[in-house]
Amino acid sequence: MAQKRHYLMCRPEHFTVEYAINPWMDPEAGADRDLAVTQWESLKNAYEELGHKVSLIDPVEGLPDMVFAANGALVVGGRVYGAKFAHKERAAEGPAYLGWFAANGYDTRMEPTFTNEGEGDFLPLDDFILAGTGFRTDPTAHAEAQEFLGRPVITLKLTDPRFYHLDTALFPLDGRNIAYYPGAFSQGSQEVLRHLFPDAVIATANDAAVLGLNAVSDGANVVVSAAASDLTLELKRRGYEVVPVDLSELLKAGGGPKCCTLEIRE
Ligand code: ARG
Repeated sequence: MAQKRHYLMCRPEHFTVEYAINPWMDPEAGADRDLAVTQWESLKNAYEELGHKVSLIDPVEGLPDMVFAANGALVVGGRVYGAKFAHKERAAEGPAYLGWFAANGYDTRMEPTFTNEGEGDFLPLDDFILAGTGFRTDPTAHAEAQEFLGRPVITLKLTDPRFYHLDTALFPLDGRNIAYYPGAFSQGSQEVLRHLFPDAVIATANDAAVLGLNAVSDGANVVVSAAASDLTLELKRRGYEVVPVDLSELLKAGGGPKCCTLEIRE
């Protein structure tokens, strides 16, 4: 069943690819900012057409990756666990996002002690939160988030540098089930995922290679990269409404629809 969501997004007004902090980024090749803005608008429109609420945070000059709002925080039950970025290039985004929540009446906030990149590495389901580590988020932040949010946090280990955030390799279909690409995870984490989600959608290497797993589901509609063809077929077979989007310019920074989307769970 579709549920109305509240998303925070950041228009890519200052988007560029001028440094490389993941294997997708090539500063020599750069990116087309105007096209990125147009593509981002289409994502925002897709959410609004589905009936979701979109709030906006002001982009900050000199923070080209700020469009990737998912990394800005983790919000569960109205509590805001702030981000602390692994790379200095993005460090100022943590306080910028926490500042937005302060200004918008979210009074239960925590400035993190440990490195974590928000919803990039934390994906809440109904009964627990799946949390990635291996490239960006420190597992000590998993424990910190569990303590602050009062929800069990399950640690998963990422092993392929192309899938440096959990949300590049896995997304919740609803509060109980997920889609994921097993090849992004350690053997032990693959076993954990098989155990927890025997009915998961298993994505192909082709889906993963276009960041198809960086998708956003409201339980009925799945906003997903148009290039993820195997995943699209399987989602339709399972009865989901697929909403294809093209974010090719943002992919040049290693991001897709989910990266651009921070969910606010009241
Ligand atoms: N260039 C950004 C980085 O490497 C992309 C972040 C993508 N965000 C995400 N939630 N996966 O940090």
